[in-house]
Amino acid sequence: MADQAFVTLATNDNYAKGAMVLGQSLRNHKTSRKLVVLIGPHVAEPTRAVLHKLYDEVVLVDVLDSGDTANLALMKRPELGITFTKLHCWKLTQYTKCVFMDADTLVLANIDELFEREELSAAPDPGWPDCFNSGVFVYRPSMDTYGKLLAHCEEKGSFDGGDQGVLNSYYSGWPTEDISKHLPFIYNLSSIAIYSYLPAFKQYGHEAKVVHFLGKVKPWNYSYDAKNQSVKGHSQDPSTLHPNYLLQWWQLFSTSVLALMKAEYGSQPFHSGCEAGEEAGEVTSKAQASQSPAPPQISSQERKQKWEQGQADYMGMDSFENIEKKLDSFLK
Ligand code: UDP
Ligand code: GLC
Ligand code: MN
Repeated sequence: MADQAFVTLATNDNYAKGAMVLGQSLRNHKTSRKLVVLIGPHVAEPTRAVLHKLYDEVVLVDVLDSGDTANLALMKRPELGITFTKLHCWKLTQYTKCVFMDADTLVLANIDELFEREELSAAPDPGWPDCFNSGVFVYRPSMDTYGKLLAHCEEKGSFDGGDQGVLNSYYSGWPTEDISKHLPFIYNLSSIAIYSYLPAFKQYGHEAKVVHFLGKVKPWNYSYDAKNQSVKGHSQDPSTLHPNYLLQWWQLFSTSVLALMKAEYGSQPFHSGCEAGEEAGEVTSKAQASQSPAPPQISSQERKQKWEQGQADYMGMDSFENIEKKLDSFLK
């Protein structure tokens, strides 16, 4: 199995926290495959050292950027041009087959069976199911494919400004040609889908193997109260059926990853997001904590607009619990 690997990408220290939790979750579920993380030049030294502890290979790559501000603006995700960097994963030709996973995914069970699939296998995107979501996909590294993908980027661009647009137009046969290349949704359960089809989640959600925190606000943008084991700014009704994946992400971060970060950062300050004093290994100064991207506070008008554009904050203000409260108040 030494010629097969799980691969992720982190161009900065924030996404690197995601990569750390992802790597730890793959190890906890006893993968027999290698783990590789691609990093950009801006990732700090101590962060790289932590990644070295969790991953078999840490590969430095150039940051590629689509520069397509128009399409990225349509998605309201200006930061995603940089996801072209993901295409470097095809250069890992020391492996014959790989599974790419976004740094904002969390593994809930062993998923080594994904290596039985062929390029390009992926799960449907929850927003447009005739496209695949490029947060989890099976592929075969090849310099030839890498060259063709870059040429495709140059000639055709990307319809979303990120890698998902390019990959879907390059692998354009995906929606119709071969059903074995459609991964079950449980290998890329996006947190958005839980709320958009709750009964399906109640029926099938317990089978989930990978959760994907797709969307602008990522787990590391919240802060965590380790003493009370709760994620700040995110309330969940204990009576709801679905597991709190965000809390699971933070529990893994605080129990396994934080100690590795503390060991590497030593007396240098870093922002962990944990807020329970020494017990939680808190090393963040207040000033740094305030620099972290807190979940945005927006007006009710802006919130309505976001809803209408399909950009609800499902993990925060627009959580199922809050929607339910609002509906109850109308019914009353
Ligand atoms: N990514 C990165 N740096 C960035 C943005 C993205 O390394 O500044 C990588 C990271 O692996 C991330 C993936 O590209 O998971 C795709 O971006 P993201 O997950 O934010 O997109 P979404 O799934 O929310 O559409
Ligand atoms: C997405 C995918 C992500 C990809 C981004 C840009 O929604 O989840 O993996 O990088 O679009 O194309
Ligand atoms: Mn993602």
